Amino acid sequence: MQAAMIQRFGPHAEVAIEQAALPVPGAQEVVVRIEAAAVNPLDVKIVAGHMGQVFPAELPYTPGCDFSGVVTAAGPLAGSVKVGDRVAGRSDPVRGGAFAQAIVAHPDALVVIPSAMSYEQAAALPSAFGSAHHALFDVAALRAGQRVLIHAGAGGVGSFAIQLASQAGARVSATASAANLGLLRELGADDAIDYRADDFTRLPAFDVILDTVGGATLERSWQVLRQGGILASLVDFTIAPRDGRRGTSVFFTEATAALKQAVALFGAGKLEIVIDSLYAFDETGAALAKVASGHARGKVVIRIMR
Ligand SMILES: NC(=O)c1ccc[n+]([C@@H]2O[C@H](COP(=O)([O-])OP(=O)(O)OC[C@H]3O[C@@H](n4cnc5c(N)ncnc54)[C@H](OP(=O)(O)O)[C@@H]3O)[C@@H](O)[C@H]2O)c1
Repeated sequence: MQAAMIQRFGPHAEVAIEQAALPVPGAQEVVVRIEAAAVNPLDVKIVAGHMGQVFPAELPYTPGCDFSGVVTAAGPLAGSVKVGDRVAGRSDPVRGGAFAQAIVAHPDALVVIPSAMSYEQAAALPSAFGSAHHALFDVAALRAGQRVLIHAGAGGVGSFAIQLASQAGARVSATASAANLGLLRELGADDAIDYRADDFTRLPAFDVILDTVGGATLERSWQVLRQGGILASLVDFTIAPRDGRRGTSVFFTEATAALKQAVALFGAGKLEIVIDSLYAFDETGAALAKVASGHARGKVVIRIMR
């Protein structure tokens, strides 16, 4: 099979398609022929060599965590999924392997996807939807009636977070650049804020703030967090409580339960999956570059098989 690979950590332009051994499933594992894979900022950071302490990936490394495809082989004890199933899943970032024609997975890490869901849509879900769900509900315990501010609402995580928060009955404000304000509203934001032209610190205080930007955006967010509120950052791992307000980092690891919820929401017509762009397999470096730009609108997806 073919796999995108890096031989050293550094520029994503060095990602190259190479010949690799076809994976063999263990007794409890399956092989998935990958149809589509989504790019996450984490893939960019691992390829750049910035995540070695948290995710000690070994070289040569095939990047990619989020994938969808068809089960083509199953170990004798694989159980819940079977050959021919259309599935989506997330690989451990240390292992990566999604930007390849096949991957070995444990059935617990896979969710069967409905026929109405394309492979491209399915691949877009695991990390971004899962992170949004985990941050809003497991970490911030968002409830109906609360006010929530979602930074980078047009990004992968933000585009799902807006929908989840809105459907949970929260009053949602979200930030993006001018070109994406309409998208924020379409996804369910009550207030769409241009982070270049508007000052979000002038808004009434929030119960929950989701930070996916960090730096000055995170620092200024404290100004609009009410007493007893929570500021949950996906990008700053040094954040601490401040003046009676909770400040906490979010570290997403477990994708499967949220992925099942995403599939159910999609089936009920309640989930929009925003796809920025589709790349061919041999354009994997360009797909990483698009995400590295910091301005993807929804998810960047690589078509592995076509
Ligand atoms: N800790 C965890 O477990 C965890 C999990 C998931 C993600 N993350 C991290 O969270 C971050 C976001 O992830 P993602 O997948 O959503 O990224 P993404 O899809 O690449 O985000 C791109 C979006 O960011 C927006 N943006 C850029 N600068 C902004 C600013 N100053 N204010 C508001 N929006 C801005 C862009 O909007 P415009 O184009 O309109 O500017 C674009 O739509 C990444 O750093 C990622 O590594 C962490």
